[in-house]
Amino acid sequence: MTPTIPETSTSLVLEAFKQPLSIKSTPITTPTPTGTALVRILSTTIRPHSRAGFAGNQVLPFPVPYTPGNSAVARVLDVGADAVSLQPGQLVWVDGFVVARDDPVGTQILLGLSDFGGKKQAKLFKAWPGVWADVAQVPLENCVPLNETILCDQMGYSPADLEYIERLAIANAGVKAAHLAPGQTVVVCPATGHYSGAVAELAAQLGCRVIALTRSVTKLEPLTSRHPRILPVELTGDVARDTAAIRALCPGGGAADALIDMSPGEATANPTHLYSGLASLRNHGRAVFLGALRDVTIPYMSLMVRNINVRGQFMYSRDQLGDVIRLIESGVVKLGREAGHEVVQGGFKLAEWEEAVRVAEEATFWGRQTLFLP
Ligand SMILES: NC(=O)c1ccc[n+]([C@@H]2O[C@H](COP(=O)([O-])OP(=O)(O)OC[C@H]3O[C@@H](n4cnc5c(N)ncnc54)[C@H](OP(=O)(O)O)[C@@H]3O)[C@@H](O)[C@H]2O)c1
Repeated sequence: MTPTIPETSTSLVLEAFKQPLSIKSTPITTPTPTGTALVRILSTTIRPHSRAGFAGNQVLPFPVPYTPGNSAVARVLDVGADAVSLQPGQLVWVDGFVVARDDPVGTQILLGLSDFGGKKQAKLFKAWPGVWADVAQVPLENCVPLNETILCDQMGYSPADLEYIERLAIANAGVKAAHLAPGQTVVVCPATGHYSGAVAELAAQLGCRVIALTRSVTKLEPLTSRHPRILPVELTGDVARDTAAIRALCPGGGAADALIDMSPGEATANPTHLYSGLASLRNHGRAVFLGALRDVTIPYMSLMVRNINVRGQFMYSRDQLGDVIRLIESGVVKLGREAGHEVVQGGFKLAEWEEAVRVAEEATFWGRQTLFLP
């Protein structure tokens, strides 16, 4: 059945820093412009740093006024004239990693989240409002089809469960950058955050031995109890001692094949976990930097003599995103309550934004998702 297109969309808008969000009603453009899809938002993420950002303490820069909201699970209502595959009625994941069509490598933004402060990025950011809305117009190519029969009818996943694709997409890019193969050993540090925990659970489900570094081993229990391949190391902060503890968990007391670091900026002051992780790598091992550490010193000589390949990884490619969805559709990677993922307070309506951003600020632990379900 062809979905009915409403006349207006309702979205949340931040007009100015330190002001409350307002709920705005906007007429929907018809016909749907070329290059776009009109979608009904079913679930969209509220990030922990939203409230601080609205108050002007942004982790990533963004201009005001703007509509927040990065990624979503949505239903296509209509498509522009150039759509050749996407159909009204289809369930999609709206990818919040938007690249300029005329400068895909040079100009990239996070929809409704950050323009990274650049002039060209600012233009792109303004052109595509975020998805904290009931209905949104989004770039056609950012709508990634989801097989509703398999994911919802057969596997029983809800749109809220499927929004976890956002974390797995980033985690998978790290796993791919580390060239991990089943049976290999990867050190993941830390492993209890939204994204770092997703790296650990994904690598374990792909058949890797995951050595997860944490300052509190009990914090890791929700992951270690579900994934026997995740082995915790409680950090002492003593680099030599922590390196020995990591090596003791490597096959034969040897060394790890790869390290994926997803440290938050707060860990910059004392990144001993990074040093222990790097020290535990085998010759020709790989180190992937996915996190947000600022300026840290690197053991240059030690990395050089061991031929360690060090690389950074920002977001992911469209192909990698498709790979994640196939891993879920094939049942290799699990979602939802049984996987340990929790929709905090069952989700929120747009009108409940104030409570939602407050709750999201506290829900930083692995697997917790604070969502609008408009
Ligand atoms: N590369 C990309 O494309 C990409 C995409 C998304 C996000 N990111 C970045 O990924 C980073 C991590 O995000 P997240 O949501 O997983 O993590 P998070 O919630 O910011 O932090 C995760 C963990 O870091 C550890 N930690 C916190 N403060 C620390 C400190 N002062 N010293 C040492 N460890 C500390 C804690 O682990 P324990 O208590 O267990 O030790 C905490 O559970 C973010 O900063 C984000 O910018 C990158």
